[in-house]
Amino acid sequence: MNIILLGPPGAGKGTQAGRLEQDRGMVQLSTGDMLRAAVAARSPVGLEAKAVMDAGDLVSDELVTGILSDRLDGEDVKQGFILDGYPRTAGQAEALERLLAEKGMSLHHVIELSVDEDALVDRITGRFSCASCGAGYHDRYKQPAVAETCDVCSSTNFKRRPDDNEETVRNRLLEYRAKTAPIIPYYEAKGIVSRIDGMAPIAEVEASIECILDGG
Ligand code: AP5
Repeated sequence: MNIILLGPPGAGKGTQAGRLEQDRGMVQLSTGDMLRAAVAARSPVGLEAKAVMDAGDLVSDELVTGILSDRLDGEDVKQGFILDGYPRTAGQAEALERLLAEKGMSLHHVIELSVDEDALVDRITGRFSCASCGAGYHDRYKQPAVAETCDVCSSTNFKRRPDDNEETVRNRLLEYRAKTAPIIPYYEAKGIVSRIDGMAPIAEVEASIECILDGG
């Protein structure tokens, strides 16, 4: 099964994609993670994307569609994928349609996480992750069980994303409203959109997604 998780920054797309990957063996395709890896590797794509990402703007459709297209050729993707952070513009939605047709794949669900935007700023500015294994935490909502030690791998090194500051988050929300929210009707016309309350606790959001995937 192939799905898109749609929602503004901080809506919980990455959190839920990670859980689906663990529970169902689906593959998380996060264009944000792909771009951050390119930035860390100082590749030409990363060098082009870095300033745009730091400002909270959107990287060009061509660049991001190029990296997604390569990733869709991976053998593992045949198990089913979760698109997290793509498409984000009408141009990307059209490009995705073309890519999937070329690769003989289809899309089964678009799940929109609806959230209160003020809560998002709080969620994102408090977010940090383990620098070794990537496990996610939050200053108030999800502290490690032992202070300053990762629950998963016991590392004591943590990191924060450079774009997780209030000013950049506000710009990312503007970008979402202006360019991403308008693509929802495109998928509604195909009859594959479901809306979930993204303000519910993480486990409840997950249960609602599972219910949609199981046809409930
Ligand atoms: P990207 O990495 O995609 O970031 P984003 O969309 O801004 O989303 P986030 O990762 O910030 O949030 P999320 O919804 O995954 O929330 P999370 O689960 O982490 O993109 C970054 C940048 O890359 C973009 O700004 C752009 O420049 C570029 N880019 C990426 N894709 C692109 C594209 N297709 N086109 C152009 N440019 C692109 O949760 C957030 C926090 O909340 C966590 O601490 C979590 O623990 C907590 N949380 C989650 N769910 C709940 C809950 N239900 N209750 C309480 N807390 C919760």
